[in-house]
Amino acid sequence: KTLSKGKPLSAPFTPVQRTWADDITLPSGYHYNIIASYGDVINEKGEKFGDATDLTVFFPIDALEGGNHSEEGILWVNHEFPEPQNYLTILGINPETFDPSKMSSYPELLKMEKEAVGGSVIHIKKEGNGEWKLVKNSRYNRRIDATTKIKLTGPAAGSIGVKQATIVEGTLGNCSGGKTFWNTALSCEENTEYGDDYGWPNFTDEHYGWVVEIDPFDPSSQPRKHTALGRFAHENAAVGLTKDGRVVVYMGDDKGDECFYKFISSKKYNPNNRNANFDILESGTLYVADMKNQKWIALDYKTNEKLQNYEKDGVKFFKSQADVLVHTREASKAVGGTKLDRPEDVEIHPYDGSVFLAMTNNTGHGNFHGQIARFYPAGGDHGSDEFTFEVFIAGGQKSGITCPDNLHFDSQGNLWVVEDYYATEDNQYAEFKNCGTFMVPTDGESYGDPFMFASGPKGCEMTGPWFSPDERTLFIDIQHPETWNPYPGHKFGRSCLVAIQGPGSFVK
Ligand code: FEO
Ligand code: CA
Ligand code: CA
Ligand code: CA
Repeated sequence: KTLSKGKPLSAPFTPVQRTWADDITLPSGYHYNIIASYGDVINEKGEKFGDATDLTVFFPIDALEGGNHSEEGILWVNHEFPEPQNYLTILGINPETFDPSKMSSYPELLKMEKEAVGGSVIHIKKEGNGEWKLVKNSRYNRRIDATTKIKLTGPAAGSIGVKQATIVEGTLGNCSGGKTFWNTALSCEENTEYGDDYGWPNFTDEHYGWVVEIDPFDPSSQPRKHTALGRFAHENAAVGLTKDGRVVVYMGDDKGDECFYKFISSKKYNPNNRNANFDILESGTLYVADMKNQKWIALDYKTNEKLQNYEKDGVKFFKSQADVLVHTREASKAVGGTKLDRPEDVEIHPYDGSVFLAMTNNTGHGNFHGQIARFYPAGGDHGSDEFTFEVFIAGGQKSGITCPDNLHFDSQGNLWVVEDYYATEDNQYAEFKNCGTFMVPTDGESYGDPFMFASGPKGCEMTGPWFSPDERTLFIDIQHPETWNPYPGHKFGRSCLVAIQGPGSFVK
């Protein structure tokens, strides 16, 4: 896309105030309806909507015919983690006697945990009354969870580093992700050490921490983990094109003092043949950002002597590109990748192609509020090795926003930002109260000013904002609310997916 400046913008809604209210608080004239929440049965097989909802990716129902249907579609939703303490309640297991180091003796709990993560493909539709509903038993509805057989692709598939696996068991830690130009979803495996933490037996670390591609339109298709995009705590995958038509994927590694990445495919995107793009993410070059020199460094074993010569305990650590991809964090440090403040979601500006990176915080260095940076690829080309950058917003009292996590652009170039922190009345986040959702103009007189659109229930993050094509609906998740529940009176807080609508379009 070329690049004209966005229009000066202001919010089309009256901003809400910070609040401790244990509810979804919206501007006057806006309302929400719940589409699905943890445990809802989605198909005839009896598969259930998972837990800890994160990321929503909307595919118009007619997308493969080039359509842009705004009232019916398929949604990919991530399920980031299980909530075992809630499942103990459901199973009637006494938490006092529960021993997490003996998970094998709790087969029902183990099953619930593995079925709670991964993601859901759900067919959704706006009904006559204006509410969005799940189309129950649609042929599209299916679950991908920690038991689904998933194919590994790319240089590390079948390598020693992944214990020679080409098929692995399931996906977990699915945080954010993205959408490809050929209408597949990318789901990112972030905190995959959960598998160990939860005491899952026979858990193989190296089979997790990848980017997973799912075709929502083909219920029989097998998801694939693309090793060419590296292995780390993948937050997201923002997809764009280089000037010569190759696919770029920008990715954050959400941990304090970890790095910012991009992948560039070897093949060019084919806009005329969907299937021709299915192997695009299987080969290409992974780069890590060197902020000091404002350069992308290729994590390419064949050409990078630092990788070839890197030793650990007196032994050469990387013996192949597969090793570099399995141990991406170590490779990045070996070549001089810059350590950042929890790099999370990335989005590409729809007008000028600049790249926005949310960095949530870095409490280890006293940065409690994080920031959003804006990168300008040299020559406006995502294929360039060089860039400049600036801070777009610094989190904290002055800007009024803290701990930015997911980002999403509307069609006018406003950046929608959700927060991720845990506030109590006496910690450093007290004045911010519950986590919220904000609209931030990226041009004009309100440049960089966050307008608060929504406040979430206590203890939750609002995750995965995504607009319907007509921008009259904002899909968003309520992740891990403390007590708030879509089923009033239920025993514990329950994650869910909601559709928010207002008097008209979300853009002015
Ligand atoms: Fe799962 Fe980085 O948030
Ligand atoms: Ca996140
Ligand atoms: Ca995003
Ligand atoms: Ca987060």
